[in-house]
Amino acid sequence: MNTSTTPLVRSRSVERLVRGQPTSDGDGVRLTRVLTQPLQQRLDPFLMLDAFGSDAASDYIGGFPDHPHRGFETVTIMKAGRMRHRDSVGNVGLLEPGSVQWMTAGRGIIHSEMPEQEEGRMAGFQLWVNLAAQDKMQPPAYRDVAPADVPRFETADGVAVRVIAGQTHGVAGAVTRPTTEPLVLDITLPAGARFEVPLPPGHNAFAYVYGGEPVTVGDRAVPSEHMAILGNDAAADGVAFAVAAGAAQPAQVLLVAGAPLKQPIAQYGPFVMNTVQELQQAVSDFQRGVLAG
Ligand code: CO
Repeated sequence: MNTSTTPLVRSRSVERLVRGQPTSDGDGVRLTRVLTQPLQQRLDPFLMLDAFGSDAASDYIGGFPDHPHRGFETVTIMKAGRMRHRDSVGNVGLLEPGSVQWMTAGRGIIHSEMPEQEEGRMAGFQLWVNLAAQDKMQPPAYRDVAPADVPRFETADGVAVRVIAGQTHGVAGAVTRPTTEPLVLDITLPAGARFEVPLPPGHNAFAYVYGGEPVTVGDRAVPSEHMAILGNDAAADGVAFAVAAGAAQPAQVLLVAGAPLKQPIAQYGPFVMNTVQELQQAVSDFQRGVLAG
């Protein structure tokens, strides 16, 4: 497999650094909300990124009991620990370290994600990807990707890349989605490594550094637990990452990019539609028990 690419003409620069906000969701699960609602237009089609990671069971043991979604997709990336998924369509799945779950809520799904452990580390991410107006009411769909089924490659520099969605360096990811064309890469860079990822200039993109530090993104040092929003510079054809030769530990970066939908975004909790009227319909459908299925 030849995973080399031609060198970038110019890397995107970092437009802004954002530090995640501590919050809790589900039944008291502590997490860091990295992509918050005020950034939804800027990072269209991405609606939310949560990072969770704790060794304390009290931070996650409540899990996420039954709750609805409509109008978008949820992507769960497990790094440590185990969670059991169950939904109104009848899917049951185990999220284990290294696995990915891609759920298209479409017109409606009710699901739960509950820890399948009472101690030890639980860590991972949940990313929300919007659906285009014409796709919001499609039937729900669900896919579990086992750790071994997430395509992976390593560069001559020792950079390890898991291609969760999209395509890069000639490697097709575990998931391909139309319209929003999401690229989701989980990248581990050892000390002294450089790595470049081509990106279409019109796609919105961000990089979340979640381990090791700092990572140079474009020409800016990004500390751990910070999201770098990448500028849409028309002359830039991708993004370059670099880690100092003396770095004490490998750096870990989640790179996310996608085609903006450029449609109105209306959100009420777990429902994301285009208008307030459609949100009222979602709430009404949920209350009447006809949202899911
Ligand atoms: Co959910």
